[in-house]
Amino acid sequence: MSSARTIVVGVTGGIAAYKAVNIVRAFVLAGHSVHVVATEAALRFVGKPTLEAISRNPVHTDLYEGVAEVRHVAIGQSADLIVVAPATANTIAKLAAGLADDLLGNTILASTAPLVIAPAMHTEMWNNPATVANVKTLRERGVVIVGPGVGQLTGADIGAGRMEEPDTIVAAALALLDDGSARQDLAGQDLAGRRIVISAGGTREPLDPVRYLGNRSSGRQGVALAEAAAARGASVILVAAHLEVPPPAGVDLRPVSTALELQAAVEAAAATADVVIMAAAVADYRPAERRADKIKKDEAGDTFRLDLVKNPDILAGLARAVPRPAVIVGFAAETEADPAARLELGRQKVARKGCDYLVLNRVGWSQGFATESNDIVVLDRRGDIVNEASGTKLSVANCILDVIVQAGTPDHHPSD
Ligand code: CTP
Repeated sequence: MSSARTIVVGVTGGIAAYKAVNIVRAFVLAGHSVHVVATEAALRFVGKPTLEAISRNPVHTDLYEGVAEVRHVAIGQSADLIVVAPATANTIAKLAAGLADDLLGNTILASTAPLVIAPAMHTEMWNNPATVANVKTLRERGVVIVGPGVGQLTGADIGAGRMEEPDTIVAAALALLDDGSARQDLAGQDLAGRRIVISAGGTREPLDPVRYLGNRSSGRQGVALAEAAAARGASVILVAAHLEVPPPAGVDLRPVSTALELQAAVEAAAATADVVIMAAAVADYRPAERRADKIKKDEAGDTFRLDLVKNPDILAGLARAVPRPAVIVGFAAETEADPAARLELGRQKVARKGCDYLVLNRVGWSQGFATESNDIVVLDRRGDIVNEASGTKLSVANCILDVIVQAGTPDHHPSD
């Protein structure tokens, strides 16, 4: 754990303000000095005495109190970390614009400390193009955005916008202090607060209890992506189909076997993800029938015909979904030896799948699978090469993640 630090918790006016009490308490119990700056609206949802008792410090709201001690800048200057939870759509807009019409706005503008915000609002407000643009602006400035989650909102409705659980917010915030330096270089953590779903490995489609149709994917590239994304601060869900290498520590592992299982796991995880990377080799077809008993040679005869049915195209389905994750990355493993022709296949595939980026590599009898290195180019949705890499699967993974970081949160929106 990091040594005692000064953490400012900004509480703004949303129903989730009552949960800020648990966040304040967790920071205090972790040994930090916690100062709450609440907006007027926040105090309509949660009581000042509660926040003062839990934080063990006075709660400040008024810009015109403590003028002699220049409180409007002093609080921000003393902060090692600022956490705004909940952050309403209004507060996010004010932060994006750099407004300082209340004490919290002044505190944040006067601070050079890392800033973590936990948005909380209704789904329509979260998906509104104004909020999407404001969140993108904040991310580009290095603000760490935790959540929101998907779940029951204040009314009867369910959707994205629910404030992330206090434990998750606290863990993401404390991770920024954990190396003992409050002014941690955020560049190394350029995926902090991003939720990335990565599929890896190869699916297996059962024929009978002992046999399956499979492929040669080892899962190495997907595992390297998960490892690199987690090291860069992302929260990673790894949907893993028959990995031949151990999964990295610190990721949320979701084992699957068939293409349909992989689809269900990826789609469930994608509902709250910013980024999905489909590195898994998914079977395009599955046996029409899954026999309950082992198929016998005598019954099958000299030539054996197998009926296959098409599996859904998971990547194309994700790219078409509304709403959909902000960045969707596909892979294309092609055996075409001629680089120009291979590039053309990649261009056609990115257009067909509708993904934002396509990682193109060459596979063959001795290339691409179960090897420690890889050789790739990354195409954008227009088919232009935006990055290329050759080397270990970990260095290739970082090159792919660089493209995602540079993309920020693109302005994809359900109305696009
Ligand atoms: N993919 C998918 N669902 C499928 C098949 C593939 O989501 N049923 C994803 C893979 O994870 C990969 C991308 O689509 O990210 C490209 O896979 P690939 O097998 O190269 O593409 P296909 O659609 O099978 O195209 P083709 O058969 O023409 O090569």
